[in-house]
Amino acid sequence: MIPQIKTLVATALLCMGSGMADAENILVSTPSTSMVLHADVGQSDLRFDFYGDRIDNELEMQQIFDTWNGLNKSALPAFGTTLNEEYAIQATHADGNPTLDMVVKSINKIPTPDAETTVIEMADKVYPFTVKAYYKAYKDVDVIEVWNEISHTEKKPVKLRKYDSAHIMVRRSDAWITHLHGNWASETAVVSEPLLDGQKVITNKDGARNAHLSHPEVMVSLDGKPDENHGRVIGAVLCWSGNYKLRFDTDNNFAHHVFAGINEEGSEYTLDPKTVFVTPPLALTFSKNGLGGASRNIHHWARAKRIHNGNAMRDILLNSWEGVYFNINEEGMNGMISDISKLGGELFVMDDGWFGDKYPRNDDKSSLGDWVVDKRKLPNGINGLLKAAADNNVKFGIWLEPESANTTSELFEKHPDWVLGSKNRNLVGTRGGTQVLLDLSNPKVQDFMFNVVDTMLTSYPDIAYIKWDANTDLKNFGSQYLPADRQSNLYVDYHKGLESVFKRIRQKYPEVAIQACGGGGGRASYGVMPYCDEFWVSDNTDALQRIFMQWGTSMFYPANTMAQHVSASPNHQTGRSLPLKFRFDVAMTGRLGMEMQPSKMSQEEQDFSRRAIAEYKTIRPTVQLGDLYRLVSPFDKKGLASLMYVSDKKDKAVVFAYKMEHFNNAIKPHFCLAGLDPDKTYRFRDIDPLRENECCYLHGKEIKGSVLM
Ligand code: DGJ
Repeated sequence: MIPQIKTLVATALLCMGSGMADAENILVSTPSTSMVLHADVGQSDLRFDFYGDRIDNELEMQQIFDTWNGLNKSALPAFGTTLNEEYAIQATHADGNPTLDMVVKSINKIPTPDAETTVIEMADKVYPFTVKAYYKAYKDVDVIEVWNEISHTEKKPVKLRKYDSAHIMVRRSDAWITHLHGNWASETAVVSEPLLDGQKVITNKDGARNAHLSHPEVMVSLDGKPDENHGRVIGAVLCWSGNYKLRFDTDNNFAHHVFAGINEEGSEYTLDPKTVFVTPPLALTFSKNGLGGASRNIHHWARAKRIHNGNAMRDILLNSWEGVYFNINEEGMNGMISDISKLGGELFVMDDGWFGDKYPRNDDKSSLGDWVVDKRKLPNGINGLLKAAADNNVKFGIWLEPESANTTSELFEKHPDWVLGSKNRNLVGTRGGTQVLLDLSNPKVQDFMFNVVDTMLTSYPDIAYIKWDANTDLKNFGSQYLPADRQSNLYVDYHKGLESVFKRIRQKYPEVAIQACGGGGGRASYGVMPYCDEFWVSDNTDALQRIFMQWGTSMFYPANTMAQHVSASPNHQTGRSLPLKFRFDVAMTGRLGMEMQPSKMSQEEQDFSRRAIAEYKTIRPTVQLGDLYRLVSPFDKKGLASLMYVSDKKDKAVVFAYKMEHFNNAIKPHFCLAGLDPDKTYRFRDIDPLRENECCYLHGKEIKGSVLM
């Protein structure tokens, strides 16, 4: 207990420093975390004070102010009033004035069954320009979502030049960030680095997808080098499918500032009067249990609030891509349907190559946009395949790439104005030399895209799954729909258009499963997850490299969203040969699937696959819906990687361990399990052993949780 006198003295000092004597303190809390803001209504802008462990009362809140000593900064620094500091929002008014000077007008709390949302309305002191800051604190998961709604009633449009979703601060210390970095076919390497003086920026400029190179998610470790199980960690997830920017600004005084929002580069937004610009939410979590604790918080939130059908288990599937690539034909598809059924799978997905009439899709150079069945390849159409699937007791799914066209397509011939591109410039084709993006800012294009899916699902109501691919970045910047003075709205309007199409699809078809695929892992993005059940982790299916990529992805995404497929050996991307058991063991940590030609497997391999799939069904609830504990990181290069999942009740757990290197007489490092009930005794079972009686030495042993941990 802090003596009363000390509190009073400190309060007096703060009052002198910040003039917050009459300030309203705003406490935003989840079950185990709190954020503290304050505002002097009618006098000051919104101030950020604290984010971390839960605070229960006014006294504790006051003690936060007492110990904070100087952190009394704007929650949404605006250009024009905080000129010498990094700012979160900037607008040029209709009369050309490029500054903002915001003051808090009102503070409201909106209760809903699962959350309480604090809405702080701010207005410019002179111009009719308003920002409503939203802080949505969930009651059942430890996440606060923060976003802004920007609007105005000026006589003419206002130009938004910067429009972040949020800004928070942490006390300057030995803080580190952990984020994901990579490239196509080698996505999501885990990078940890200290926050040093000055700025670190994580950004994306792809335009269409946003997760190949880096991710709009980050962990901020507050107690030195990041650790899986220990230390305070803030996790931040920007829920946006387009260009983004995360900025970490370490000032010379007290704070590391974290800014997150849409990337404003090339993206100045012209906002009409009375139109509301809603920024994407930044979801924040805090944990005292290291990176693992923050990941589990994010997984809980994501499954419950942000992923379509997030708490459901996913089917085991066979995808045709690496098995046949573009060589789709009825006999081949029927064969694969029957094969996956015999192996115990539940869904067959026909990938690229099934469509096109005037221009058949035989390679990646034509046909996108012409979503009609190629009857030369599939004489009995989709109905024939649906019948084969029903006869074999598996579901059927199909590949689409609704956002794209090829310039060699009937769609492009009919609607050349529907594709993105700028005046007086030749179109640059991307994949196959002829792929271009449709202009999703155009409502007619949005209707077209909705109709593609709608026609497909009304004509064939038994289609259970859509693989929604997106194989190109936004190369030809420019819209033939947007007026000249709004061209720079495109980066944003593309994704608002995409979201509106997804919303319409979901309203009519809540049941169909959708995979977000971005030409590999480019659409592993919380921007699209409210409409998608899962995403393709990477076009690289090499099991060894997948251990790294899946490890990174698991920092922010739960297992039931991560599509992981067993593919052929040697692997088609790396040429590496790996045992079938290893390939299954790696794919089984997420949503298991196969992506190869089962008919090319030996009898022994088919038998093994059947056993592995049957075993996966027994562990699927724990893997897909349990809590993840990462044990030994492949990035630590210990010759081993290991992770485990623990069921809700802690009565079941699944442990995966992978030998990452192969040296004679290499030391097998010991490691501890985590997340178990220390008082429960667990019986080991080695699943899918290579040969019936060649089990792990732990098989059959009963050991207490406390010993294992
Ligand atoms: C890229 C995807 O990532 C692959 O899985 C496959 O669907 C191809 N596109 C098809 O063109």
